[in-house]
Amino acid sequence: MEADRLRAEGVDVVDFGAGEPDFATPDNVKQAAIRAIEQNFTKYTPAAGTTELKKAICERHAHDFGTSYQPAECIVTVGGKHAVFGFTQALINPGDEVVVPAPYWVTYRDVVSYAGGKCVFVDTGESNGFRLTASMLEPHFTARTRMLIVNSPSNPSGAVIDRGEFEKIFRLTSERGVYLLTDECYCKFLYDSEPFSAASLAGAKETVLVAGSLSKTYAMTGWRIGFALGPESIISALVKLQSHSTSNATSIAQKAAVEALCGPQDSVAAMLAEYRRRRDFVIQRLRAMPGVTCAEPRGAFYAFPNMEGALGKNGIQDTLQFAERLLTEARVAVVPGEAFGTDRHIRISYAASMRDLERGLDRIHQFIAARS
Ligand SMILES: Cc1ncc(COP(=O)(O)O)c(C=O)c1O
Repeated sequence: MEADRLRAEGVDVVDFGAGEPDFATPDNVKQAAIRAIEQNFTKYTPAAGTTELKKAICERHAHDFGTSYQPAECIVTVGGKHAVFGFTQALINPGDEVVVPAPYWVTYRDVVSYAGGKCVFVDTGESNGFRLTASMLEPHFTARTRMLIVNSPSNPSGAVIDRGEFEKIFRLTSERGVYLLTDECYCKFLYDSEPFSAASLAGAKETVLVAGSLSKTYAMTGWRIGFALGPESIISALVKLQSHSTSNATSIAQKAAVEALCGPQDSVAAMLAEYRRRRDFVIQRLRAMPGVTCAEPRGAFYAFPNMEGALGKNGIQDTLQFAERLLTEARVAVVPGEAFGTDRHIRISYAASMRDLERGLDRIHQFIAARS
């Protein structure tokens, strides 16, 4: 990546591109991994993960969301992305349609196409803060629809699906026998609502599929631990796929994950408080830039400003060009909207220090102001 190359050359790049917490993994979690190594917990585990960790995942999900999964309905995956991959490869056949609200996390598009399926994108509309509703989705369901993938809070927009709307969306899918894959990667990072899982709705067990991750919640991106929850028969298919591809997630990381899920949870609240402070700062700074508007993110740690008013000048037609020029001329890395299905927005990750946020936003402001 160009930003890495510049940094390797000693250029001072402010990076708002990376979608990962800037916090360290909590100490208790690191200590659990060290103990695992010292106790030689360094061999294969069952492909689906240790029973200890599967129980810990089910118990945490039950505690946080009121669900009732059993270990046989759970698989430990190599990160949350791997859970999304497993579900899509196990369930989507060539010709199947998968409804995906836009803007979307690019992985959905690619894993659906890898399975031979076709994504049907549904624009969630910026004027409403990208909030997904059941009525937006309904016209896009056909006899070929196999799955709906939702992500709340959303990467890249930070939009959150309200509980009542989730209920309607679940009804829409279950009545048609369509799977509702809910990617709960950012489920703990909510600014004005309580964590909610569609899997807690009555009757959800048959068609709701949960892709979960410890990566963001516990600042464990490099440990590669995620999970999938769903009907036992589908989870068994994911286990087969995994047993012949990656086998188990790393044994040491699994021990660390047990500690993350069962140990003190205060680091999550501390991170959320810090993200909220940064969100407020970032939104206020973005909205003060000429030609920039920004919907308020209600969760996750991304801002997704509309740059339309800053485009069409100095040969910058879309956000791909905007991001390239911003990097080379102002030394700030952002992700262009093209990666999420729009050419009018950029994604700014505020999982960055306040110092970097100040410096980077100053640079973006000057870059835009100099061209307006
Ligand atoms: C929406 C979404 N889902 C899932 C993931 C998967 O994270 P991981 O594979 O690191 O657990 C990410 C990571 O960026 C994400 O943004």
